[in-house]
Amino acid sequence: MPYDETNKLKIGVLVSGRGSNLEAIIKAIEEKRLKNTEIAIVISDNPEARALEICREHNVPAEYIYPGEFKTKLEGEAEERYIKRLKEKGVELVVLAGFMRVVKDKLINAFKNRIINIHPSLLPKYPGLHTHQRVLEAKEKESGCTVHFVNEVVDGGKRIMQAKVPVLPDDTPDTLAARILEKEHIILPKVIQMFADGKIDYDTFSDKPILLGEET
Ligand code: GRF
Repeated sequence: MPYDETNKLKIGVLVSGRGSNLEAIIKAIEEKRLKNTEIAIVISDNPEARALEICREHNVPAEYIYPGEFKTKLEGEAEERYIKRLKEKGVELVVLAGFMRVVKDKLINAFKNRIINIHPSLLPKYPGLHTHQRVLEAKEKESGCTVHFVNEVVDGGKRIMQAKVPVLPDDTPDTLAARILEKEHIILPKVIQMFADGKIDYDTFSDKPILLGEET
């Protein structure tokens, strides 16, 4: 269903740290580049996250929710707490924007095909951590970022949009990450807009990602 000014797409954003992708979404909404969308809630698994400060600065509702005893995943009671809060806020699309935990079945099923993630590589290449280091070691000529649906396979769901950047001869993981991050900030709001416009139906969406610059 396409959304409009009076019936906006409610998104819930999960974060863990710096929050630059979250900030890109907030600014896109403020500057009306991202339309018919509102952030219903931001949830952080880290009380010190800079992302929470960004929310305070922009008057976006945000909470830290205790993520439980596991370090790398959201499971059990913590997972239920997250689901409950997202549902209470009427969230229709969950956006993982630098959320450093693996999400498990319960959350995935509670928001079936309505969870997306941004990953800093050209998936299916380089899922998981330390992406840029591995790209440089493999002497890749290009890298980039991918927005994809979240399923049980880490960084393995259907890909929605990608942006490419060159890998330069003197790149370090940091310089490559910075070049890719600029593209992340473009494609994540774009994909959210596609959801708000009712342009993404999971079942009919192939795994062939739209390339930034080639979207129709
Ligand atoms: C981004 O590179 C994103 O692709 C990855 O984690 C990083 C988060 O950065 N999943 P930020 O918190 O959005 O600044």
